[in-house]
Amino acid sequence: MSGGGRRAGAGAERGGGTSRARGREEQSGSSRKPLIAGNWKMHYNHLEALALVQKLAFALKPRDYAATEVVVLPPFTALRSVQTLVMGDRLDIRYGAQDMSQRDDGAYTGDVSGSMLAKLGCRYVLAGHSERRQYHGESDAVVNAKVKAALKWGLVPIVCVGETQEIRQAGHQVSHCESQVEGALDGLTSEQAAGLVIAYEPIWAIGTGEVAEPQDAQEAAAAIRDRVSAVHGPDAGVNVRILYGGSVKADNIAVMMAQPAIDGALVGGASLDAGEFVRICRYRELAVGA
Ligand code: PGA
Repeated sequence: MSGGGRRAGAGAERGGGTSRARGREEQSGSSRKPLIAGNWKMHYNHLEALALVQKLAFALKPRDYAATEVVVLPPFTALRSVQTLVMGDRLDIRYGAQDMSQRDDGAYTGDVSGSMLAKLGCRYVLAGHSERRQYHGESDAVVNAKVKAALKWGLVPIVCVGETQEIRQAGHQVSHCESQVEGALDGLTSEQAAGLVIAYEPIWAIGTGEVAEPQDAQEAAAAIRDRVSAVHGPDAGVNVRILYGGSVKADNIAVMMAQPAIDGALVGGASLDAGEFVRICRYRELAVGA
């Protein structure tokens, strides 16, 4: 069971939602809005970024934004251009960064602070993506410091957790994710934890085309929600949004979104193509298992 996340309640019905999607909110008693975030990683310069955001803006309609929060996470060098486009054209697309420093300012060559991102109108920032953990040695303690710094500057952290193939083969994936969540959220208030986004991304599924079984993703997401509930209180457990990430595409998003503990997706490769990303954002129109 997913603790507070399955508490009965009167969730508000959203336009165009499937009965399963509505069921998720009704069961939760919360108003967790689905969130689809595109993690562009180290792809696209600022001109290419503008072209992609323009294509998304052209395709996405008010009903899409009403049903689902749509977020892009371009490289740092494109953020100012994306800000100018989003503000100038009053787009409903939200944006954020893929990483930030845990420090406010100072002699930290190459780093970018939360205050700089906030000034660029960023709403979100990834914290502890597995590629940061792997290639930049980010520990749970560093991720925790980044989460706290992000909150300090009014950014919403998208905290990434997930197991390696070896950990899954050993059957320790749930305890591994729970411990990463505990580490990343250490010291947060219930209110802070409630406002977070957590992305469950099994490392073996990232960029491999090998997507997790929906019931396995559900199991991990429900365990994460339970843990947040146990440590930070039932309100946090009910309200924290949990995404699935790892080879999400238009042909597998609907079945993931049908899982009651999953509120959205963190999309890598498939977010680089406007048409595919729009189809993912419109998962409600896709048949489950299509
Ligand atoms: P992928 O990446 O969709 O290309 O697997 C997901 C991620 O790393 O966030």
